[in-house]
Amino acid sequence: MNAADPSRPVGLLAELTHRCPLGCPYCSNPLELDPRQHELDTASWKRVFSEAAAVGILQLHLSGGEPASRRDLVELVAHGAKLGLYSNLITSGIGLTQMLVSKLAEAGLDHVQLSIQDSEPRSADHIAGYKGAFARKLEAASFVTEAGLPLTVNAVIHRANVRRAGAMVELAVRLGARRVEIAHTQYYGWGAKNRGLLMPSREEAEAAIGEVEALKTSLSGTIVIDHVAPDYHARYPKPCMSGWARRTLNVTPSGKVLPCHAAELIPGLEFWNVADHSLDEIWNHSPAFNAFRGDDWMREPCRSCSRKTIDFGGCRCQAFMLTGEARNADPVCHLSPHHHVVETILAEARDDTHPPQPYAYRRLRPSTAVRRERLDISAD
Ligand code: SF4
Ligand code: FES
Repeated sequence: MNAADPSRPVGLLAELTHRCPLGCPYCSNPLELDPRQHELDTASWKRVFSEAAAVGILQLHLSGGEPASRRDLVELVAHGAKLGLYSNLITSGIGLTQMLVSKLAEAGLDHVQLSIQDSEPRSADHIAGYKGAFARKLEAASFVTEAGLPLTVNAVIHRANVRRAGAMVELAVRLGARRVEIAHTQYYGWGAKNRGLLMPSREEAEAAIGEVEALKTSLSGTIVIDHVAPDYHARYPKPCMSGWARRTLNVTPSGKVLPCHAAELIPGLEFWNVADHSLDEIWNHSPAFNAFRGDDWMREPCRSCSRKTIDFGGCRCQAFMLTGEARNADPVCHLSPHHHVVETILAEARDDTHPPQPYAYRRLRPSTAVRRERLDISAD
């Protein structure tokens, strides 16, 4: 594949808003969040969905922030359904009332992915930075299943909950989920900012992997378990985004189109906006989408590596964050000349000589976005 012959995209991640009542410290949204006044309006989002269908996109992921913060969510879902797009709502559950879920189901929503932060209420609320979040999520799960919508539970694993990975799978079963995604934290955005507080030790990560893999067997036929292994502890990197600009598009709340959620951190890339270009033009011709297509950009050891068609050299954003150069091999790879950077980070994660620090909670603006319900921040 090359820039002249890009594959057709299959998925659109529509980040409808960056507004969110929760403050999860592992959030992969950028540190600089789009304020409400910069969000695309209803007509623009509908046009984007229509353009997505026209370029052959099949799956529409409605995300954020918290997509239920948008008052036009039902209208947007209905438009996606009219276009024949398979719609998936990725939600914290906060803001999902029974009435809203039932309207979304009527409008043609196909699937709901609900995040949980832990299986223990107090810890879950602490991680979310929102008192009562856990109880509201359980309620939201019941609204979803009562409306007959298929439910997937997402749980992000990190140091504070790594010992309860199995308990979170069991919670997902109790909530009536058909599928659960247990995903070890990826360190982008707020997750990168909080990396030192989130990174489990290798022993903790391996124990969690063993627990979840055993449940895959014992709960087979009860629930499907998707397991995203911890990146930094792996021998080879993940094939991030299934390769740069090969399968999906991300549209930010203000209409910038990105090949992945973290791409804006790579300096020198030019991102086009849906206000100025169609999705078709952006997919085929925008500089950012063509920056790392194919393998002409690759350096050694990736360039002559037999795995380059499997993992595409890993993650460009992670390569930039950890080595200062996006064209380098992802340093998670043990063949990377920069792999020692990852080894150092893991060694620091095992160093308990420093007292725990408070999380840097995700927030739109420090002075205004911390809601009254938020907990005082103190590490457990
Ligand atoms: Fe992947 Fe590059 Fe490592 Fe080969 S050298 S396994 S292509 S990251
Ligand atoms: Fe950007 Fe991996 S997150 S390429």
